[in-house]
Amino acid sequence: MPYSAIVVGAGSSIAQALIEQLIAAEDCHQILAISRQQTFQHSKISTINCTYDEASIEQTCAQLSVDYPVTKVFICQGILHQDELQPERKIESINAHNMLKVFTANTVTPSLWLKNLTPLLKSDQPCKVALFSARIGSISDNQIGGWYSYRASKAALNMMVQTFSVELARRAKNVKLLAFHPGTTDTPLSEPFQRSVPEGKLFSPEFVASQLLSLLEKLEVDGKASYMDWNHQPITW
Ligand SMILES: NC(=O)c1ccc[n+]([C@@H]2O[C@H](COP(=O)([O-])OP(=O)(O)OC[C@H]3O[C@@H](n4cnc5c(N)ncnc54)[C@H](OP(=O)(O)O)[C@@H]3O)[C@@H](O)[C@H]2O)c1
Repeated sequence: MPYSAIVVGAGSSIAQALIEQLIAAEDCHQILAISRQQTFQHSKISTINCTYDEASIEQTCAQLSVDYPVTKVFICQGILHQDELQPERKIESINAHNMLKVFTANTVTPSLWLKNLTPLLKSDQPCKVALFSARIGSISDNQIGGWYSYRASKAALNMMVQTFSVELARRAKNVKLLAFHPGTTDTPLSEPFQRSVPEGKLFSPEFVASQLLSLLEKLEVDGKASYMDWNHQPITW
């Protein structure tokens, strides 16, 4: 059955690997790739460049032209460090400016995309939506502390995913939401922190993309949000 896929934050290294695999998927006939700057050249792909303020997100979604039922959506945005902004190791490093920047990129922006994409997702086909979270956003699994803003922004994203899911179970029963942990993946986001990653635990974007696509195939549309990792294992919220 031909389908359309939407990739938001398509400049992410993992998103680009997903797009390569979607291009190769026979049933995927259209990929809407949304990014601030990244562009793509392929007959299956429509590139949409957009800033991530609320008005632009609304305007972009209102103008999206979808040719087939949307059955896969990937909302990939996230920042951990940027210029002078670094994850906080201690309480004294927390400051409002950086915290708001991280929450905007990791919680507010993905939520606004999901809000504005929702009208496009309702159909008679199952639609699986993966929002890129992180294991570090698990409140029950916080053993080592630190990285306050990133951790809290992903926990807040998880709560948004859970809450969207309760409402979508009534309003768009074909939609399944997934808060996804890719594992430590070799991308610009993890690059400064890769030295401490154990041997064999730094994944390629291609591996993670293929794990995510096979996870989506397995997930049932059950009216509940799932929080799962690259190895198809559930994470406690
Ligand atoms: N890499 C890892 O080890 C790891 C581990 C756990 C979770 N994750 C999560 O996986 C997701 C994908 O990250 P990645 O590793 O592929 O990193 P990446 O290559 O650095 O991609 C960064 C992503 O964030 C977006 N972005 C950058 N600055 C932004 C800003 N100021 N506001 C909003 N969005 C911004 C980019 O969108 P554009 O397309 O517009 O550039 C892109 O989608 C993130 O949500 C990250 O938190 C990654």
